[in-house]
Amino acid sequence: MMKKRLFIISNRLPLTIETTDNNVTMRQSSGGLISAITTYLKGSGKEFFSEKIWAGVPGCTEKIWDIANNEHSPADYNYLPVFMKSKMYELYYNGFSNSLLWPLFHYFPSFAEYHSSYFDAYMEANRSFADILSKQVRNEDFVWIHDYHLLPLAGMLREKFPKLTIGFFLHIPFPSYEIFRVIPKQWQREILTGMLGADLIGFHTVDYSSHFLSCVEMALKTGHDGQHISWENRQIKVDAFPISIDFDLFNNAYDNTKVEAIRKTYLKLKKDKKLLFSVDRLDYTKGLYNRLKGFKKFLLANPEYHGKVVFALVVVPSRDSIRKYAERKKIIDEFIGNLNSTLGTINWQPIIYQYNHLDFEQLIALYTTCDVALITPLRDGMNLVSKEFVASRKDKQGVLILSEMAGAARELTEALLINPNDTDEIAEMIKQGFEMEKKEQEERITAMQERISRYDVNAWAGDFLSQLKEVKDVQLGFEIK
Ligand code: F6P
Repeated sequence: MMKKRLFIISNRLPLTIETTDNNVTMRQSSGGLISAITTYLKGSGKEFFSEKIWAGVPGCTEKIWDIANNEHSPADYNYLPVFMKSKMYELYYNGFSNSLLWPLFHYFPSFAEYHSSYFDAYMEANRSFADILSKQVRNEDFVWIHDYHLLPLAGMLREKFPKLTIGFFLHIPFPSYEIFRVIPKQWQREILTGMLGADLIGFHTVDYSSHFLSCVEMALKTGHDGQHISWENRQIKVDAFPISIDFDLFNNAYDNTKVEAIRKTYLKLKKDKKLLFSVDRLDYTKGLYNRLKGFKKFLLANPEYHGKVVFALVVVPSRDSIRKYAERKKIIDEFIGNLNSTLGTINWQPIIYQYNHLDFEQLIALYTTCDVALITPLRDGMNLVSKEFVASRKDKQGVLILSEMAGAARELTEALLINPNDTDEIAEMIKQGFEMEKKEQEERITAMQERISRYDVNAWAGDFLSQLKEVKDVQLGFEIK
């Protein structure tokens, strides 16, 4: 047992605060990063550290925070709120993080916006995190920094705490040098040297790790041995840790009574129709448009399926104050309206579309009612929806169609893999998915379930933290206990 303090640092705190006239409520937020870390802190990480502190932006004023935090004290960890001026937050979050890093790291270079005001706010926001943390951390603590909003933070902390144990994990792809090099040189340097402030740098896949290593080599003229970089008298390790889900939670949810009741209603509505299902945040990286085009091609090529198939498409609102996201919504809405009105009839609506959040039980009911899950991102760091779908199929039925551009495609090799730019292939795979024999469905789902359950979210976090400890022990010349 480590019995040290663990600091988790992410842009958002894992909660949403809502204020009505005379009430302040706090509830846990969703999202890949948040569910992975909260699962670990409540699960196998519970006993591992003497104290757990989560630092991030709370999304409310200090006054509201004081009321909310007093009334709803957290159970498994403490919060360390980082407050920022709204103008700075806007330039750091909507600006540098989501209008430059996000599009660029997902291979949308033409969407990236370069403004020095974005970069200045990004550095300033990271400094705010560093200042607040500096008042709390001690050299013997463990600090685990998450995601693209906080790339320079490890370097800033390292200047003040030379012996601190710092891990960094990136939840999105790390691009090849040909993409990375389009960032102004000074910014490239700040990003890479900032990341090198960590002792262990983790990515979802070996491709992203090797891209990072070659960016360090090209931009900083610093070599590596394939996994280690020597930087400012420290050995830094770079490795792949494919993030996962709480397998048991999703697998056991199949028998949850609320899920069973909802599934019964869906099955009644579905009757003998085939059900295609997808759920994502509204994001141009998710390939929603191509997915819809693929579905349209499937319907046009297979008239025998008219009236016999329904596509349940759930889109979760996200980052809607950024123009590119709002534009996407319009394109999707129009395509669906058009398809339903031209191919549908009074008795049959080909696409049922929901633009809203889904609660957990409804999500599992849809995962376990559908015949085919269609996941087609143009680029995705990992894609946890694909793992959730597979894990929830306790009945060992259902077909996963998955984009080979998702990090998850490296592990879920028994899925029907597609190129998301090939809408003919999407159409063909939908047909193949609907017509797959039950035995083959079972074989494919079983193989994928075994893999996900072996390396679930607790294994992912445990693996990262134990490697972080090893790296630090070696650095400090200690015996590994
Ligand atoms: O994929 C990266 C990520 O940070 C996820 O961890 C998270 O679920 C998602 O983006 C949501 O982003 P935001 O905090 O901007 O809503």
